[in-house]
Amino acid sequence: MGDLAGKCALVTGGNRGIGLAVAQELAARGAEVTFTCRRAAGTTAAGPAARGVVCEATDTVGIEALVAEGFDIVVNNAGVIGPIGRIADVAVDDWAGNIAVNLVGAYAVVRAAVRMMEPRGGGVIVNLSSGAARRPLEGWSAYCAGKAGLAMLTRSVHLEYGAAGIRIFGFAPGVVDTGMQGEIRASGINEVSQIPRAALAPAEEPARAIAWLCGPAAAALAGQELDVRDAGLRAAAGLPPLP
Ligand SMILES: NC(=O)c1ccc[n+]([C@@H]2O[C@H](COP(=O)([O-])OP(=O)(O)OC[C@H]3O[C@@H](n4cnc5c(N)ncnc54)[C@H](OP(=O)(O)O)[C@@H]3O)[C@@H](O)[C@H]2O)c1
Repeated sequence: MGDLAGKCALVTGGNRGIGLAVAQELAARGAEVTFTCRRAAGTTAAGPAARGVVCEATDTVGIEALVAEGFDIVVNNAGVIGPIGRIADVAVDDWAGNIAVNLVGAYAVVRAAVRMMEPRGGGVIVNLSSGAARRPLEGWSAYCAGKAGLAMLTRSVHLEYGAAGIRIFGFAPGVVDTGMQGEIRASGINEVSQIPRAALAPAEEPARAIAWLCGPAAAALAGQELDVRDAGLRAAAGLPPLP
């Protein structure tokens, strides 16, 4: 029996990339997993391991209704990198579109999660953070601002709901071989776009760390921004040390 047997988990953006790997890892550890995706075709991405539900990140009513079904674990993963461009070149509406998904959408998930979890005596929330939450990168002003805001939201939830048994983590997954990194390489802007695909980590690696965060062993780290590149976290989560 897996260490997450009996737990119900929700992963947003679970049809591909890190979200799909997280859905599969949580299911492999025994959790009953639901994930969101934007299109009906995505609902079968995890095969029989997990249930797919169509829900746009900006559909706050739909998110609220889904989260209210009741989950022990909520992984706030859906996100977008674009618009990629220097500040003078990005339209205000496009910039706002990033924030609408990466920060407002994430807030809707977190808000629904704390409303659902508090009466249940607690739960675990993992927000997908990024190194971009802490440092600006050329062409990524929307993404950096959104992830920085999300990091503060993580701390705010811990302040308001940590004592209610809600363990929230911000988790930076490293530089991971997903569609998002493909978009970044294609942009050619900033040093991240120059990282060769062969140097990227597989999505299964952050997925294992996130699954570890969902268990009781990580409780002492609640409220923090964590990074998969941290040696202590890797050891605790059972990941091999970095070269
Ligand atoms: N990859 C990295 O190196 C890296 C590094 C740091 C942080 N992260 C973070 O990790 C998370 C996952 O990234 P990833 O690399 O796996 O990205 P990805 O491969 O581009 O996948 C993004 C996921 O989010 C979903 N999504 C995007 N916009 C959405 C919307 N408006 N409504 C609902 N779902 C939406 C996508 O659905 P569709 O398939 O329908 O587009 C997809 O399932 C993101 O929060 C990202 O910021 C990634």
